[in-house]
This record gives sequence, C-alpha cells and structure tokens, in this order.
Amino acid sequence: MTLTNGYEQSDREEKLNILNLPSLEGEAKKIIPTGGFGYIFGGAEDEWTLKENTQAFNHAQIVPRALSNIDHPDLSTDVFGLHLKTPVMMAPTAAQGLAHAKGETDTAKGVAAVGGLMAQSTYSSTSIADTAAAGNGAPQFFQLYMSKDWTFNESLLDEAKKAGVKAIILTVDATVDGYREEDIINNFQFPIPMANLEKFASGDGKGQGIGEIYAAAAQKIGPDDVRRIAEYTDLPVIVKGIQSPEDALRAIGAGAAGIYVSNHGGRQLNGGPASFDVLADIAKAVNHQVPIIFDSGVRRGSTCSRRWHQALTW
Ligand SMILES: Cc1cc2nc3c(=O)[nH]c(=O)nc-3n(C[C@H](O)[C@H](O)[C@H](O)COP(=O)(O)O)c2cc1C
Repeated sequence: MTLTNGYEQSDREEKLNILNLPSLEGEAKKIIPTGGFGYIFGGAEDEWTLKENTQAFNHAQIVPRALSNIDHPDLSTDVFGLHLKTPVMMAPTAAQGLAHAKGETDTAKGVAAVGGLMAQSTYSSTSIADTAAAGNGAPQFFQLYMSKDWTFNESLLDEAKKAGVKAIILTVDATVDGYREEDIINNFQFPIPMANLEKFASGDGKGQGIGEIYAAAAQKIGPDDVRRIAEYTDLPVIVKGIQSPEDALRAIGAGAAGIYVSNHGGRQLNGGPASFDVLADIAKAVNHQVPIIFDSGVRRGSTCSRRWHQALTW
C-alpha cells in the first residue's frame, strides 16, 4: 500500500482469477478506500439510469446461429484505419490512481496485451506521455474534456498528438457534474493529482471535488467546437455522449469522424434512457456514415443478466 496525501493507494500486484465483473468489483471494494470506490462505482442521484443501462440488455436477445462452418471465430476488426485483435476499447476513465498506484500505465499495458484500444482521459492520474509509452505502440485515443481556456485545450491536444494518439474523443455529455450522492456522503475530493492538470493548468485537481474540476471545463459546447478540434489536430474527432439520432447527425455535420453512444454510465446525469435502448435508432440515422462506439452498462461479452443486476445491490 502507498500512502498518497492520506489516501491508501493499493500497489498490490498478483494474478487475478476473474470469474466475472460483479465478483471482481466485490474484491475491489475490499481494497479501494471508501471515497475512491464510491467515485468509481457510484452514479448520479438514485442511479436509475445506471441500473437501467445494465437492465436494457435484457430487452434484446442473441439468437444463436448453427451450421455456420466456423471453428475459430475472428473477432478482429478494422476501425478508424486501425486493425484491432478485439473490438473492445478501454473507455476514457479518469483518476485510475484511485484504484492502483500504477494507474493508467498498467491499464494501457493490459489493453495492449489483448490487442484492444486504449482511451486516455483528460483527468488521468498518469501523464499522456507515460500512458502512451506504457502502451508500447498499441493504438490509443485521447479524450478531451474541453476547457474554457483554449490555451489549455491546445496544450493537451499538442501533447496527445506528440504522444501519437490516433484520434480525439470529445466528451459532450458532462459539462457539469452530476448530483452524485455517494461522493456527497463520503465528502469525496480527489486525493491524487491529475497529471495533465498538474502539467498544463493552474491547479492539479488534488483536494478538489468533481464539481470544482468540471467548473473549469467548458459548459457551452457546440458543433463549431468539433470542427475546431478536427482542424487544429488534423485527427479524427469522435463525439462522446450522444444519445439521440438528431445529435448524432449534428455531430457528423460538424465533421465528426465517429459517434460514441454513451450516457457516461449514468454517472453524471440521471433519468435518461439506457444507452443500449437508444443505440438502434442512432445507428439507423447514422447509416454507416461513420463508425459507432458504444458504452454504458456492458458487463459481459454476451448480455447483462438479471443476476448481475441483483449483484449490483449488495
Ligand atoms: C471512474 C470513472 C471515471 C470516468 N471518467 C471519464 C472521463 O474522464 N471521461 C469520459 O468521457 N468518461 C469517463 N467515464 C465514463 C466512461 O468513459 C464510460 O462512458 C462509462 O463508464 C460507461 O458506463 P459503464 O461504467 O456502465 O460501462 C468514467 C467512468 C468511470 C467509471
């Protein structure tokens, strides 16, 4: 264990035998301090949307096909000009130092080892360069929480480009923080500095709550911002946090190279529909113009079972 500003950061390293995600989360809860665990695990308000995200997979079933003459199914895919062994991306996830002292660097190593795609968050515990180096050449994207301060945005985008990221993910669904009751109960403030804020902003996030951090982000984001980031970086821009066909088309009209259907896992906004339930209509409207990334509620390769939902309420 490493004590960082009074926070007991785990530095344990051992082989994990993972049965499924609920059991892994149960193990994590024993190790991660209460405030950090609440930030990682909790959602907004009474977490209706968060729970609905997992339940929604029960609204559709997978019909198994037979006589297909395949022995080793190929899961590889080509997307955004990249060849991936597995069609899985590590979603941009802030402050991974809360879970382990090695933070995003070891996540990047794991993602590279399975041939997936790693997305770095603006609010990462480790720096863009360190996380990129840990990925050892495997593809990475950089997720931007756009700031009101364009000098800061440009510094991050320059750094991400220098580190060789292949695309920018612009998150548009969390311009303010949610009413996160778990964080309020725990009086949670980030104990560990955020490397990109430390390097490029006036504060490093340490000792601040998510509300204060989001307050520095831009509250006003529109199609012109998508265009501006694409022009500035000359990289594909993927718009994250899309929940309606209209917004998907607006993003594409502004030059988005990809649509990222997500409701942030119900972490910041409550009361919206499950992300899975809006996916089909968005895909229909997008009509293969650009690739679609999806998240929120995924807990298994197949579907989320009712049993999982029960496990959530331990
Ligand atoms: C601890 C944590 C931190 C997150 N940080 C970010 C972030 O920095 N930027 C972002 O766009 N999304 C962030 N997200 C949202 C994820 O990218 C993703 O949309 C969400 O977790 C999907 O829902 P799921 O948790 O049900 O899979 C975060 C999620 C978690 C759990």
